[in-house]
Amino acid sequence: MSYKFFVLEKDNNIYRLIINAPKSLNSLSTELLNDFEKIIDEISKENVKVLIITGIEKSFVAGADIAEMKEMNYQQALDYAKLGHRVFSKIEQAPFITIAAINGYALGGGLELALACDIRIASKRAKLGQPEVSLGIIPGFGATQRLSRLIGVSLAKYVIFSGDTLKAEEAEKMGIVVKVTEPEELIDEAKKIALNIISKSFNAVIIAKKAIEQGIEMPKYEALKTEEILFASCFTHNDQKNGMSAFIERKKPNFE
Ligand code: HXC
Repeated sequence: MSYKFFVLEKDNNIYRLIINAPKSLNSLSTELLNDFEKIIDEISKENVKVLIITGIEKSFVAGADIAEMKEMNYQQALDYAKLGHRVFSKIEQAPFITIAAINGYALGGGLELALACDIRIASKRAKLGQPEVSLGIIPGFGATQRLSRLIGVSLAKYVIFSGDTLKAEEAEKMGIVVKVTEPEELIDEAKKIALNIISKSFNAVIIAKKAIEQGIEMPKYEALKTEEILFASCFTHNDQKNGMSAFIERKKPNFE
């Protein structure tokens, strides 16, 4: 299948989704977001274990589409925010692991897309930020919530109130990205992370994702109860027997 704003490359169960709308530096128009949702829905039915999301040229995603937003009224803005939230929540809750490989600008909605991914890495050329207050708006695709939960309220307020653009290394120091690479090594690094993840029990990885995603929304002791149940559920899957037998027998595990 071919898409207007995306290129999807499939390499066994590691997929790479390239956002390809260069005229507006990959800004997130309604049309692009609708396509994005269709792709996530489609590949959620496939045997994908890791999805690497990246951009093209100098941009990962330069934000929501300012030309489109300029003319919006209250209701249209609300619908637009709801659309972005729906798509990004699907990405966050996807039944596979997502890696944002931030090649260039990740501003506003672009950083918010990356925040909805499980793991973020960035090229030395990347520039990240939430510049919305410079446009008279606030982040509306999730940063007030996801950035605060990721790096804490104090740093999130600093990033959002200043609207400053951060270099990749600054974003790494704040814990927004886990690794910074040379530009030409970004995708190889993302694939290395993906290969390492899929060498493990995918059942365990996905249950761990669920425990983290569900638990972060709950009071601590309720979240620990959820962990108990999810932990025990691993013992109903062959990967637990395989993984532990392999350890005892000093063999490589043969996960399903
Ligand atoms: C629409 C955009 C765009 C955007 C760039 N373009 N960003 N169009 N929406 N977010 C367009 C430009 O208008 C221009 O079109 C072309 O892409 C190239 O951009 P330039 O500005 O000429 O490139 P450059 O000088 O290299 O500057 C790159 C940039 C700058 C620093 C990334 O484009 C920029 O500041 N963009 C806006 C970033 C931003 O504020 N993002 C947050 C948006 S608010 P033409 O036709 O002139 O070639 C947001 C809210 C999310 O994301 C929540 C919504 C609910």
